[in-house]
Amino acid sequence: MIRKIRLGINIDHVATLRNARGENYPKVVDAAKIVEKSGADLITVHVREDRRHINEKDLGDILDVINIPLNLEIAANPEMVNIALQYKPKFICFVPEKRKEITTEGGLDVIKNFDNLKKNIQILLNSDINTSIFIDPDKDQLIATHKLGVKTIEFHTGTYANAFMQKTNVEKELKKITESAAFANELGLNCHAGHGLTFENVSPIASIKKIDELNIGHFIIANSIFDGLETSIIKMREIISKAAK
Ligand code: PXP
Repeated sequence: MIRKIRLGINIDHVATLRNARGENYPKVVDAAKIVEKSGADLITVHVREDRRHINEKDLGDILDVINIPLNLEIAANPEMVNIALQYKPKFICFVPEKRKEITTEGGLDVIKNFDNLKKNIQILLNSDINTSIFIDPDKDQLIATHKLGVKTIEFHTGTYANAFMQKTNVEKELKKITESAAFANELGLNCHAGHGLTFENVSPIASIKKIDELNIGHFIIANSIFDGLETSIIKMREIISKAAK
């Protein structure tokens, strides 16, 4: 059987570029249409507390033009949960958020934030929206996430991506993700992964059998400057499909 990994493309940084000059271009809806045309399975966006890239208008505009599902990344607080309930994307992923961080720096600490998460995400777990949590590849985090009643997790691959770049501890970081994916599978959790993935480092992650979705943003948007968005997505898909066989 051919294993197909779903590919989600995060288009936050199209909005980052737009906001850098306060212009109305590049348009996120145009990016969303190209992502869909390029055969991606979903579009991912992160509405941050400071709206540094995607805002609610973008969210509504994107939902109006796409036919593939949208995966909304949000922090676990009442404001963001209300946005999710208002816009009703097909998927939600809860991520940690610190105001000053440049990007999401790690997984959500479900153990430490268990009570807050329980309070904030219950309403979504009881809705039609498929809810996941972005966590580090760690057994105790998985146990806590399972206890919350969540059915899907996304592994933070940023530490692996850094290790890959520095050429140190790559095997150690890969082992953590592989073993955590196997344990998640034992718990009956669906596994996604993302953060810092590139043409160069994606294959070992895509070849982990239990991982069935990858979300990739920054590298794809950056590479689009040279190759265009469609070509970058198609190339990423080809690399992932080859590794997944
Ligand atoms: N998955 C999650 C949960 C994220 O928060 C991000 C970054 O917003 C990504 C995937 C994509 O990471 P990158 O932009 O580094 O590809």
